[in-house]
Amino acid sequence: MTRIGILVTSTRSGRIGPTVARWVADQAPEGVQAEIVDLAEVELPLFDEPQSPKASPGQSPATRAWAETIESYDALVITTPEYNGSYTAVLKNAIDHLYAEWVGKPVGVIGYGWNAGADAMEVLARVADRIGMARTDGPGLRLGEHLEVDGTPTDAAPADEMSALFTALVERVDAQG
Ligand SMILES: Cc1cc2nc3c(=O)[nH]c(=O)nc-3n(C[C@H](O)[C@H](O)[C@H](O)COP(=O)(O)O)c2cc1C
Repeated sequence: MTRIGILVTSTRSGRIGPTVARWVADQAPEGVQAEIVDLAEVELPLFDEPQSPKASPGQSPATRAWAETIESYDALVITTPEYNGSYTAVLKNAIDHLYAEWVGKPVGVIGYGWNAGADAMEVLARVADRIGMARTDGPGLRLGEHLEVDGTPTDAAPADEMSALFTALVERVDAQG
């Protein structure tokens, strides 16, 4: 069984992130245990560690708990809405708290928004690659096409591409042994 965490990275009231993440989790093939990890429920303060986590892992209880959460998954799927041409500040904060835990981690990315989250995925790709995540981009979900405005997936939601992303992540996990 491959354990894959599906990250919800929006935290505002009225967000559609949990609905999008549920659809993603529902596409998990046999052999994948997909669990939703909602940043609204992860108690991380704004980054306040004395050193860069690359130089020295943060030691605050909140940082250690977050590190253990990320370490507990074989792979992740980050679902990212597009906020002003990028991903959310909450996600950046969660990324910046760790370093070693991200390096080599198989990470799939799913964007969503009016332009299918394309700009958010592009910015996140740059950050993920710089850190050294083993990134695979999945589909972008366009509001009004793949998702209703309340986040409900439509019949056009790309289930096949989502399955392909899970397969690619499992292959990466298996290749890492
Ligand atoms: C602060 C903010 C900025 C946004 N900027 C963009 C944007 O640049 N491009 C876009 O396509 N949609 C943008 N949107 C629309 C969101 O992508 C859309 O509302 C999506 O549902 C947000 O995800 P959430 O409901 O999980 O928070 C923005 C929404 C918010 C709240």
